Amino acid sequence: MNETVIKEALSKVIYPGFKKDIVTFGFVKDITVENDKAFISVDITSSAPEVKEQLLEDINKQLQLAGVKDAKIDIATPQMPKESSSKGKNIAPGIKNFVMVSSGKGGVGKSTTSVNLAVALAQQGKKVGLLDADIYGPNVPRMMGIQQMQPEVDGNTVKPIDAYGVKVMSMGSLMKEGESLIWRGAMVMKVIVQLLQDIQWGELDVLVIDMPPGTGDAQLTLAQNVPVTAGVTVTTPQKVSLDDSRRSLDMFNKFHIPQAGIIENMSGFICPECENESEIFGKGTCEEVAKEYDTTVLAQIPLEPMVRDCGDDGTPVVHIKPESVTAKRYYEAANNLWAQIEKINAEGGVDNAAIQPNTPPGQSACSTQ
Ligand SMILES: Nc1ncnc2c1ncn2[C@@H]1O[C@H](COP(=O)(O)OP(=O)(O)OP(=O)(O)O)[C@@H](O)[C@H]1O
Ligand SMILES: [Mg+2]
Repeated sequence: MNETVIKEALSKVIYPGFKKDIVTFGFVKDITVENDKAFISVDITSSAPEVKEQLLEDINKQLQLAGVKDAKIDIATPQMPKESSSKGKNIAPGIKNFVMVSSGKGGVGKSTTSVNLAVALAQQGKKVGLLDADIYGPNVPRMMGIQQMQPEVDGNTVKPIDAYGVKVMSMGSLMKEGESLIWRGAMVMKVIVQLLQDIQWGELDVLVIDMPPGTGDAQLTLAQNVPVTAGVTVTTPQKVSLDDSRRSLDMFNKFHIPQAGIIENMSGFICPECENESEIFGKGTCEEVAKEYDTTVLAQIPLEPMVRDCGDDGTPVVHIKPESVTAKRYYEAANNLWAQIEKINAEGGVDNAAIQPNTPPGQSACSTQ
């Protein structure tokens, strides 16, 4: 057995669905023989599992006929980008990853989570933006301590406000304090587009987006205008709250937004006096829902009065108390979130503009039949 014999055997393997063999197509990348064992690597252009299976069977058959008894065959297939929420559209192309922080119902801790995740990721040296997409009830300016600050207007665009190493923008920073908004859905959609398009976000590794509660116009507009990389669902551990969290998880599935995972917030209570933890709303109940949606629990964040005080004071807990139990859980959440983002991108990301054709290079499926 030698390389020439093997190559000859492989030249009898026809690429499934075509008339040419895999050697002629240039799919055979490497053939080596070591101690009577053949090592063959083949790169194909189809990601369909049936093609790979058929090919493996045909290669084995031809090798056997050629008297090759021991062979390791490696067939590499192209990675298919997943369909993105926006079908390839991206109105903020300088931003590499978009993370949507959502929940089925209000008051479970989306804004607190978004703020601490954004600051934690920035502390790790990433270029981070934080968009407050809750345009009816923007809480991010208070939580980031920028309530009194006015963003700088530059022509038709606005510069985001820097806070704790994060570029922040919120409708709250564009309105006078105490002003409330009574807008219809169409206006909400327009404002969301402007917050993505007319803000000078620059190049960002990630934009964390704090969503309003539920699954309405803001969610739809975002999903349709940028390829959302990952969705984070925030919930509290009570059974009733978990039922609501399914709305957020279902929405991500419906919009083709990969699930990064669930944040179980207010999970156990840490007593400010003795620092003992008690399970006031329950704990660990999200695991089951995560499994149901084939995702993970990114972290369990305890209910701790300090977290609320930090939010009210505009000093996120990961900034002011990085050594606290709660801050450490936020770091765990940020690390797990980043690992999920990397995994999603390694699996082909969500940009469907780059979907590979199921056709060998330089050939059209028709011309080779
Ligand atoms: N882990 C926690 N420990 C203590 N307080 C918390 C915790 N998480 C959130 N809070 C407090 O709970 C309240 C609601 O949190 P937050 O505003 O983040 O929720 P939300 O889901 O964004 O609400 P909305 O749906 O109204 O936008 C805030 O006062 C916040 O400080
Ligand atoms: Mg909020």
